[in-house]
Amino acid sequence: MKSILSLTYCSRAVRPMEDAELLPLLDKARVANARRGVSGMLLYKSGSFLQVLEGEAGDVEALIATIERDPRHEDVRILRKDAGPRQFGEWSMGFQNLSDLRLVEAGESDLMSAPFDAEYFGANPTKVQELLLCFRGMNNPALVTTLV
Ligand SMILES: Cc1cc2nc3c(=O)[nH]c(=O)nc-3n(C[C@H](O)[C@H](O)[C@H](O)COP(=O)(O)O)c2cc1C
Repeated sequence: MKSILSLTYCSRAVRPMEDAELLPLLDKARVANARRGVSGMLLYKSGSFLQVLEGEAGDVEALIATIERDPRHEDVRILRKDAGPRQFGEWSMGFQNLSDLRLVEAGESDLMSAPFDAEYFGANPTKVQELLLCFRGMNNPALVTTLV
């Protein structure tokens, strides 16, 4: 079995995005990721993205190269590259829009009230991991559908 690479990056949307735009993006991403054997989690909050991509190194590197060129966002910063195992193996791409206050109530408030930007993520790599993992269990397609 080939070794698994886990790559985490953050970026800024070029303009604020609503679920109406994010969900179709996610639908396509999930189909493409499932085909490539890529798993992960995407978080969005007030114009910023935080995403972890997991899969065979070549697949993850090819995908991040595509994502970096996507005109819908900018300032793509790679925060971490870790060796596996997968943490989000059940998710072709989990997703949570943290701009939604109902979810802030459901989450751990300290973590949720921390800044959601490159400066904070760069200085707090363990928090990045905690934040992403926080949604691993509660995120499921049925929940996403009821929240939008
Ligand atoms: C924040 C963000 C995250 C994305 N995540 C993925 C992803 O996980 N998988 C994926 O295939 N495309 C993802 N995309 C979309 C890709 O950038 C790209 O549009 C898609 O892979 C189609 O590329 P293609 O037109 O070259 O086939 C993401 C885009 C953005 C803006």
